[in-house]
Amino acid sequence: MNPFQLKNGQLHVESVSLSDIARRFGTPCYVYSRAALEASLDEFQRELVGLDALVCYAVKANSNLAVLNVFARRGAGFDIVSGGELKRAMAAGADPKKIVFSGVGKSADEMALALDIGILCFNVESEAELERLNEVAGQKGKRAPISLRVNPNVDAKTHPYISTGLKENKFGVAYEEAVNLYRRAANLPHIEVEGIDCHIGSQLLDASPFAEALEKVLQLVDEIEAAGIRLRHIDLGGGLGIRYKDEKAPAVQTYLEPLLRALNDRKLKILLEPGRRLVGNAGVLLTRVEYLKPGEVKNFAIVDAAMNDLARPALYDAWHDIVPVAPGGGKHLDWEIVGPICESSDFLGHGRPLCLEAGDLLAVMSAGAYGMAMSSNYNTRPRAAEVMVDGERCHVVRRREVVDELFAAESVLP
Ligand code: LLP
Repeated sequence: MNPFQLKNGQLHVESVSLSDIARRFGTPCYVYSRAALEASLDEFQRELVGLDALVCYAVKANSNLAVLNVFARRGAGFDIVSGGELKRAMAAGADPKKIVFSGVGKSADEMALALDIGILCFNVESEAELERLNEVAGQKGKRAPISLRVNPNVDAKTHPYISTGLKENKFGVAYEEAVNLYRRAANLPHIEVEGIDCHIGSQLLDASPFAEALEKVLQLVDEIEAAGIRLRHIDLGGGLGIRYKDEKAPAVQTYLEPLLRALNDRKLKILLEPGRRLVGNAGVLLTRVEYLKPGEVKNFAIVDAAMNDLARPALYDAWHDIVPVAPGGGKHLDWEIVGPICESSDFLGHGRPLCLEAGDLLAVMSAGAYGMAMSSNYNTRPRAAEVMVDGERCHVVRRREVVDELFAAESVLP
């Protein structure tokens, strides 16, 4: 479902025009569609009806409380990677028994918090982490439920910065060492083996690496069970890609069908950790053209959003479609869409053919995932507002920051 449609030449989200949102709430502004969030979660849940399965939304993709709450209301669980995300998920109404905790560097405090809250599972990524978790759980007189995140050494064929399932990546336990580490885990007094976990990367556009990874993980499951250790669930991570430009992202069904078939005769609960696929195309970054600066070599359109608002183009050279919110009367040129930040990497798009005038509004598309979540205050820029549209209604789900609060925690020397 695409909630962003032209009506009378004006770009709308659901029933609300983006010009209206800009007028009411200012720019830059992230805008999300509730219907699109729900539709993307439904796409997963539909495939899993009748199965012992749980969709754990990867909070890191977009951690706004309203987004988390929309998913929690529909029964989703959450994949968190910090104590901060755990607190957010709880504040948004998450069921702790549906939370899995991933990440290579969990601190003792974060482990203690998650044990107190009583989460479903820790996805443990190293032997050292396993030992620490055993210790922290022991101090509390508890047993920590765990999966080992196994690194299957499978090429996810995605951007190297977001590929995680290869031997050279820092993630997970080496495939060859996994069975021994399961034996160790099963013998630790404050560890309860629950399942097995794997996540090979993000923005995957080919479903075959998922199947390859699953096959390798299932071989391990057999070896682990042969060692007398019972597993209750298998967590296949996230990573399903979306369309940013002209990519052909697999349908959820195409991605899940071979996985569900392979798991058919196994008594394993299925966990998934999708992030981007649930939120990416449900959000845009709304920005206004401040100045036009046509030049001899390049034509710059300086907009009020920047790399601090949306880091993906600067960080990964990522493409986001950039669409006028209303028909433009300006000059048709190839424009460099750039922000006000003092770096040449501060761009949102290169050479975009658009008719632009100062004051025009642009929507940077597919910005619902890893947009606001990766934003910063670089150049002491207050972070954007976030608005969620629900039919005809708009809700400010995060107010725009004000400059004074950006340095309120700082102090000068006595
Ligand atoms: N599970 C684990 C353990 C992860 O590390 C990730 C993402 C996910 C699930 C969710 O993956 P997704 O379904 O969203 O692909 N900032 C980058 C993406 C980083 C992904 C990190 N891990 C970007 O903007 O492309």
